[in-house]
Amino acid sequence: MNRIFLLLTLFTVSFTLHANAQMNTVADTVRHYENLMQTTDQPEEFERARSWLNRYYRDQVTRVEEDVPVYVLPDPLRLDRGHRVDNTETWVRQRRPEILEQFRTHVYGRVPEFDYDTSYQIQSVDEHALGGLATRKQVRVELANRSNGSDATIDLLIYLPNSVDGPVPVFMGLNFYGNHTIHKDEGIILSENWMRPNETIGIRNNRATEETRGYYTERWQVEDVLQRGYAVVTAYAGDVEPDEHGRMRQGVRALAYGETGKLAGDEWGTLAAWAWGLGRMMDYLETDEGIDHQKVAVLGHSRLGKAALWAGATDERFSIVISNNSGCGGAALSRRRLGETVGVINTSFPHWFCDNHNEFNGREADLPVDQHMLLALIAPRPLYVASAVEDTWADPKGEFLSAAEASPVYRLYDLEGLPVTTQPEVDQPVMGTIGYHVRSGGHAVTAYDWQQYLEFADRHFGK
Ligand code: GCU
Repeated sequence: MNRIFLLLTLFTVSFTLHANAQMNTVADTVRHYENLMQTTDQPEEFERARSWLNRYYRDQVTRVEEDVPVYVLPDPLRLDRGHRVDNTETWVRQRRPEILEQFRTHVYGRVPEFDYDTSYQIQSVDEHALGGLATRKQVRVELANRSNGSDATIDLLIYLPNSVDGPVPVFMGLNFYGNHTIHKDEGIILSENWMRPNETIGIRNNRATEETRGYYTERWQVEDVLQRGYAVVTAYAGDVEPDEHGRMRQGVRALAYGETGKLAGDEWGTLAAWAWGLGRMMDYLETDEGIDHQKVAVLGHSRLGKAALWAGATDERFSIVISNNSGCGGAALSRRRLGETVGVINTSFPHWFCDNHNEFNGREADLPVDQHMLLALIAPRPLYVASAVEDTWADPKGEFLSAAEASPVYRLYDLEGLPVTTQPEVDQPVMGTIGYHVRSGGHAVTAYDWQQYLEFADRHFGK
């Protein structure tokens, strides 16, 4: 009997030691690779660390509600020192800047100080575009930093509705593969810039081909938007900055660092660069007499939805903010860890966030903020969050809860944030100062989504 007991004890002890040793090895490897990703200047080493970590974090991904951990969200209405925020003045002067600062330091990164000059080149104007429905303008925004010799250009495509005497309200957002993808219109200049590989849509050797013209017509619904009296303004996100790790110097971040300058851990990633680019597009709109720049709705899908939210949070000139299926790092609550997680996104797209954000890989609960606070930064301006029911990677419920949790800040302004407290049924939009719907179908922007955005903008722009 004693011997059996001894054997059992020995077995348990050695098993536990072995398991602990294994756990240590994994934890050590994670730490080692996390460190390597931040410090190495060898591309192969970086890639080895990134892909190992990416597999590691992907293995932990879940898509079921039962696996959502118990979590406590930071309170948008409590100052870091603990005091409750119960009026808009304290919100504007103290709490809002505090939250912005935390997002800058730990999530998207701050834009450093640098000087640049701006000029605008009108590349073409056609007053009879789209069969006379619109005036098409193409404008190049030129940005140059004389002190370090760097420059960047952003090519704007603008459709103004001919049926309305200006100035007109606007829907503005970045696109994934060039302005010519949003409509078949042959007058749209084909982008010549670098693009992420995508054979299926006709991107070859990292460049757009004619095949891609009009590929994303559904995502933009140009005719409908124009018929409702709105202008459409877009630019290729890759003009602002190419969507690939290591291409920072080919976009607007080069303006700050030139060819050699280094990025600090709390300085901007690509999402913040895109958001900054949206601000430069807004600068142009302010000079265009055909545009009502008090009525600019900024919108974006997916990664560009994340950028649109950060643009809306940091630049209060955007009067409506719309996030379409923006998910992790966008509208969805990070602490739920459902679908894409912080660890996965930082190792899939290491250029999107600031380097400090990596500290929260696998540690969402330690973030000083969560994404409902990003949404709250948009208050009191109207905000629309859209999910798609099959888009579980973006955690539709997490997007809804985030909008609901931003509502107390809207209520501080005596505004109804989100008019409901439980997630509405599929295809049942709700619209307060915050709007929300979960559409049937998957990750996309559809005519249905646009109908809601147009309705929402009509209400808030008083049309
Ligand atoms: C990937 C990524 C998402 C992103 C999406 C997109 O799925 O993981 O975070 O939103 O691409 O931009 O389409």
